[in-house]
Amino acid sequence: MADEKHYPGRSVVVTFNARRCLHTGECVHSLPAVFDPAQRPWIMPDEGGAAEIERAVALCPTGALASRRTDGTPAEDHTGGNLAVVSANGPLYLRGHIELNRLDGVVEHIRAAALCRCGASSNRPFCDGNHRRAPFKADGLAGHRSVGPVPGNGVLKITFREHGPMLLSGNWLLRTADGEETCEGGALCRCGASKRKPWCDGSHRTCGFQD
Ligand code: FES
Repeated sequence: MADEKHYPGRSVVVTFNARRCLHTGECVHSLPAVFDPAQRPWIMPDEGGAAEIERAVALCPTGALASRRTDGTPAEDHTGGNLAVVSANGPLYLRGHIELNRLDGVVEHIRAAALCRCGASSNRPFCDGNHRRAPFKADGLAGHRSVGPVPGNGVLKITFREHGPMLLSGNWLLRTADGEETCEGGALCRCGASKRKPWCDGSHRTCGFQD
């Protein structure tokens, strides 16, 4: 993809998509010898082992980082069950086996993404940090209804309704500041106007959200 830059090493190639990075620093903290913003290039795959690089890449909450082994060995799966974490005043962090069906027709199979829920990102459906300028106010609570078993590794399908919510299909766990809830499907607000965030309440029809 045009936004991606590749950092080849002897055993691993790391790919970085700057437009999806929110600078959470997980990679830098977990493996500073490989991920060092003070160096050029800032990713140095030969300074670490393949397995530890894969573990560090798996910690990236936005999916900006990816890796593949040069000998074709499949990477260990560190993904876990499908999880959506609602951040206060910020994006929705998705992790799992995700099929992302974008409105422009592009389908991506990814393990992590930070999706815009304020409506102000210029890189939708991904968050680009514009919620800080908007400013977007959302406490990140959900008033949970029930807690069930943690979902397995089935595919979580994400689609987007034009000028409306994101639709989740599959089993997933919703995590907010006030607890967790297992879900099958659901419509989450991405216009920023819902009064029962993170869920869509139909406010997108009257707030002028266009996407
Ligand atoms: S997308 Fe925000 S209320 Fe429906």
